[in-house]
Amino acid sequence: MARVALVTGGTRGIGAAISRALKAQGRTVVANYGGNDTAAQAFAAETGIKVYKFDVSDFAACQEAVKHITAEIGPIEILVNNAGITRDGTLAKMDRTMWDAVLDTNLGSCYNLCKLTFDGMRAQKFGRIVNIGSINGQAGQYGQVNYAAAKSGIHGFTKALAQEGARFGITVNAIAPGYVDTDMVRAVPGDVLQKIIARIPAGRLGKAEDIARGVAFLTADDADFVTGSTLSINGGQHMY
Ligand code: CAA
Repeated sequence: MARVALVTGGTRGIGAAISRALKAQGRTVVANYGGNDTAAQAFAAETGIKVYKFDVSDFAACQEAVKHITAEIGPIEILVNNAGITRDGTLAKMDRTMWDAVLDTNLGSCYNLCKLTFDGMRAQKFGRIVNIGSINGQAGQYGQVNYAAAKSGIHGFTKALAQEGARFGITVNAIAPGYVDTDMVRAVPGDVLQKIIARIPAGRLGKAEDIARGVAFLTADDADFVTGSTLSINGGQHMY
């Protein structure tokens, strides 16, 4: 039986490329999305991948979704916590709602979905968890104290949970993407983005597939000795 993989934020951008890559590896992929029904339906029609709408920052909604997916598709053995948002602004302009939204969605979601799938993985003696961090969680970024804190938190969360999962055959790793050509990065003001690209040694933005390749590697059945690591995929912009 093909293993079931849940990819959060899995219908657009980096997440969509991850969903596709895991499907190509023979996984039964389930893609979560938060709001964009049109994009999700188009993705489902094009790929044949089942999509589930729920808010990853809401524990009760995650609980309901995991129950549903488990009953309908099977136990989740591969979890990719990819869903993320930005609410950029300097601290002076950042109100508490911008802080909470980013922390709850980007980091709280990792707690929610790991908490809800970890026991099942333990029972199966197999699990693959990949949390999508960020170069900005490693290096910081002007205008992103919320996002950098959440992504940095993801890197710490990953290393802690890796220690808890290792003896049960569960690996927990992170990927730290650099600037990837997605809607999120295209929303950065043009002049700011040009300066950022100028600092990328590879001379270009990343492609969503560059990140998906890393997830495919880290979730492979035989990648069982790789755990607690952070794979930076950033065109050389930051070496950590
Ligand atoms: N370092 C130092 N100073 C900087 C700076 C930097 N990196 N960026 C901007 N500034 C300065 C400007 O020069 C300007 O200074 P002056 O007022 O003296 O001219 C000042 O900061 C502007 O400050 P404001 O409070 O007016 O800021 P703003 O409202 O114009 O917007 C911002 C600031 C929201 C941070 C905007 O610059 C921005 O969006 N920056 C990009 C942030 C970014 O990289 N986000 C990443 C999104 S993609 C992502 O997160 C994915 C991933 O994982 C990589």
